[in-house]
Amino acid sequence: MSKQVPLMTEAKSIHGQWSSRLIFILAATGSAVGLGNIWKFPYITGENGGGAFVLVYLLCIAVVGIPIMMSEVMLGRRGRQSPINTMTRLARAEGAHPAWSLIGWGGVLAGFFILSYYSVIAGWAIAYVFRAAGGVFSGIDAAGVKQVFGDLVEDPERLIAWHTLFMLMSMVVVARGVRAGLEKAVTWLMPALFVLLIVMVGYAMNTGSFAEGLKFLFEPDFDKLLYACEMVDGAQQCEISGAPILVALGHAFFTLSLGMGAIMVYGSYMPKQSSIAGSAILIALLDTLVALVAGMAIFPIVFANGLEPGAGPGLIFQTLPIAFGSMPGGQLFGTLFFVLLVFAAWSSAISLIEPAVAWLVENRGMTRVRAASWIGLITWLLGLGSIFSFNLWSGERYKLFGKSFFDLLDYLAANIMLPLGGLLIAIFAGWFMSRESSQHEFAMAQPFYSLWRGTIRFLTPLAVVMVFLNAVGVL
Ligand code: PHE
Repeated sequence: MSKQVPLMTEAKSIHGQWSSRLIFILAATGSAVGLGNIWKFPYITGENGGGAFVLVYLLCIAVVGIPIMMSEVMLGRRGRQSPINTMTRLARAEGAHPAWSLIGWGGVLAGFFILSYYSVIAGWAIAYVFRAAGGVFSGIDAAGVKQVFGDLVEDPERLIAWHTLFMLMSMVVVARGVRAGLEKAVTWLMPALFVLLIVMVGYAMNTGSFAEGLKFLFEPDFDKLLYACEMVDGAQQCEISGAPILVALGHAFFTLSLGMGAIMVYGSYMPKQSSIAGSAILIALLDTLVALVAGMAIFPIVFANGLEPGAGPGLIFQTLPIAFGSMPGGQLFGTLFFVLLVFAAWSSAISLIEPAVAWLVENRGMTRVRAASWIGLITWLLGLGSIFSFNLWSGERYKLFGKSFFDLLDYLAANIMLPLGGLLIAIFAGWFMSRESSQHEFAMAQPFYSLWRGTIRFLTPLAVVMVFLNAVGVL
């Protein structure tokens, strides 16, 4: 006897489908693994004191990240459309208010914000490919590498050129369709990047500061997490602050590409029979592994060369070149490393705009090329603000709440918009979607389903709300 399947789940996406579960996993891992793991994780860990921050981040991945990733994939596959239309469609099917489509709209906006500065940083990585290949790093010391980095970010014209190149690269892939552009790239580039990171850890082991690096990364010191410190007139001033915990939560969303529809839209291209839970857990584990390995490569170099862990967004660009400059074959490794970093950023960037492109195609009848061009143009313009944060607008008078345009945009998108989007996704999936619908879509064993449902209804929303309240000083 054939089982009665609700009509909607038969729907297929008009944008195509991944050819297998493996391809979905590769694509979603391509989205998750990017600058977040290799550039952002080390620098925010450095700014927020190390071990305790890492521990909270890992907790957020487990309690918030994985259940929300499962929910996003599930919602996407059930709705089979861009996140905006998926949410409208599912809300209607579940008898909920159509305003749930706001999850999709908020996600599109967050995607614009993130991509605008993501592309600027990816541009730095492209610039470094040429510096590495040209032998600029050979024998370089901490002061030299600071100079190279400073020369780059203080020159708006160069930054604009690299930002433009990266935006063009991303638009071309999105215009061609995510599948055609992506499947091949992620299959072997991601593993190659991982191998190179391991090589870097090998180098870090010989710096003499490996133990110190590991200690910084893995030994929790909660004072450092609970107090935010700032240098004021040469003296350190600290005050109790919930901000670092919010940064850890925000980063769990950022690094797993959650809370804005990227994973949801990839889920909408997922074949019907694939296991959602297994895929989500695997993706989260791989992503976390890459971040931790990157940290293990970078912090020993920081300490061995007397650098500042809290150096900010330039951290990897001021540490890794020292390693490439002094290791055998460093010119080749360095070039390869930055090439692979660009690819990792590339496969993340395209998932940032796919939700918007899919919506323009569905609702405005645009071709993918047109949709990608418009979105590319808007994001490119917004990116100029981040470029100027590092040079023309780096002065105090251009700052708001002590943050530059780039810092503000990153803070707003990663630490507020993504967790808020994730909270709404959890509430919708846990409370507004019927048990039958989610259970049917997950098709997993009862105890695991119950575990997900209990977590997404109670633990996940509670955790996000508590971190928010803590950050504004209520808790
Ligand atoms: N996860 C990506 C990274 O870590 C960034 C990203 C965020 C991609 C949100 C898509 C959506 O680099």
